[in-house]
Amino acid sequence: MKLATRISRISVSKTMAVMEAAIKLREQGIDVVDFGPGEPDFPTPDNVKQAGIRAIQENFTKYTAIGGIKELKKAIVEKHSRDFGSKYDISECVVNFGGKHALFNVFAAVADEGDDVIIPTPYWVTFGDIARYVNANPIFLDTKEADGFRLTADLLARSLTPRTRMVVVNSPNNPSGAVLDNEEFGRIAKLCRDRDIFLLSDECYSHFLYDGRKPFSVASFTDLKSHIIIAGSISKTYAMTGWRIGYVLALPEIIGGIVKLQSHSTSNPTSISQKAALEALTGPQESVGIMLAEYAKRRKFVLERLRAIPGVKCAEPGGAFYAYPNISAAFGRGGVKDSVDFSAKLLEKVHVAVTPGEAFGTSDHVRMSYATSMEQLDKGLKRMHEFMAGL
Ligand SMILES: Cc1ncc(COP(=O)(O)O)c(C=O)c1O
Repeated sequence: MKLATRISRISVSKTMAVMEAAIKLREQGIDVVDFGPGEPDFPTPDNVKQAGIRAIQENFTKYTAIGGIKELKKAIVEKHSRDFGSKYDISECVVNFGGKHALFNVFAAVADEGDDVIIPTPYWVTFGDIARYVNANPIFLDTKEADGFRLTADLLARSLTPRTRMVVVNSPNNPSGAVLDNEEFGRIAKLCRDRDIFLLSDECYSHFLYDGRKPFSVASFTDLKSHIIIAGSISKTYAMTGWRIGYVLALPEIIGGIVKLQSHSTSNPTSISQKAALEALTGPQESVGIMLAEYAKRRKFVLERLRAIPGVKCAEPGGAFYAYPNISAAFGRGGVKDSVDFSAKLLEKVHVAVTPGEAFGTSDHVRMSYATSMEQLDKGLKRMHEFMAGL
C-alpha cells in the first residue's frame, strides 16, 4: 500500500529495535541485562502521584486550555527563571505532551520545506526524523570525540548557509552525555542571533549534571531571547516519563503557532498530568537530588569498569545518564564489523542490550544507559568484559 510521502521519509526509532530484540529473549526466559532504556528506573515521587490522584478525585478530568493551564505555565516560567535566570512571560510558554511533542511542534511551527536544520552528531535519533517529516533538510554536523563531542561556535559558523533556519543543541547530550561550556553556548546563541537563525535548545537532561556543576540554560542570555527556543521536559527530572508533559519557551508568535497546531491535533495535554506536573515543579524537590546522587555513583562505577576493558575508550559524560564508549577495538575480531554487529552479538552471546552508535550518527560507539540498578550494571559490565576478551 502506498502511504503518504511524509511517512515514508521517516523510520521507526532505531533504539526500539534493540528493545524489541531484548524483549524477545526475555520472553524465552533468558536473563537479559538491558542498558537500552533512556528512562529513570525510579518511581515517580509520591507527592506527584498523589497530586494526580487528587486531580481525578476532584474531577479535574475535562478539557483544559489547549496550551496548558495557567498555573502550570506560571510554575514553568517561574521555575525556569529561579533555576536559570531566564525571563519568560506565560504568553511565551506552551505545555505539550512531553519533550518529544514539544520538539515536534517547534519544528512544525518554525522549519519550512527546504530549510536546513543543523543537528550536531552524535544526536538523539528523533531530531533528524522530525526534520524529514516536516520536509526540512537535517544537516548533520560532526563533532569530535577528542573534543568530548562538544559543538563550538567556530564549527557551527563554518557550516551555516543562507538556507539554515535552525540549529538544534542538546546539552547534556543524549547519547554522549557531553555538556557544552556555558560561555561557548552563549557564543553559539550570539552567532544564531547575528545570523538570524533559531537556536533550539533541548533541555531534557538539564538537571542531570555531575561533579558539582550547576544546571544551566542558554535562556539565561536574556538579550538573545529573540532567537532562542527552549524545549523542556519533566520526564527525566521527576521520573515521570509516562505522564507525558513537556513545554516550549519562545517568542509569543512561535507559541501561538504551536497552540494553533495543538488546537487541531492533540488539544490540551492530559489534565491529570498537568496537575501532577504542577506539583512536581512547585512541591518538594528532594527527590531530584536523591536520584542525581544515585546516577552519580553509577556513572563513576560504569566509567571505571568500561575503561578497565582492554581496547574500550570512553569520554567522560558530564551529564544525562548515558555512557558512550568507543568499542571500535572490537571491529575485525570475532566477525564484528561495526557497532550494529557488536550490539547484536553482545545481545546474542552474553545477553546484554546496548544501542549501536549508528542510531545516533557515529559508527564506533554504543550507548549504555545507567538508569538501572548497580546490580544490573555490575552483571552487565562483567559480561561485556568477558565478551570483549573472548572475541
Ligand atoms: C534528548 C532528548 N530529548 C527529548 C526527549 C523527550 O522525552 P519526553 O518526550 O519523554 O519528554 C528525550 C527522551 O528520551 C531525549 O533523550
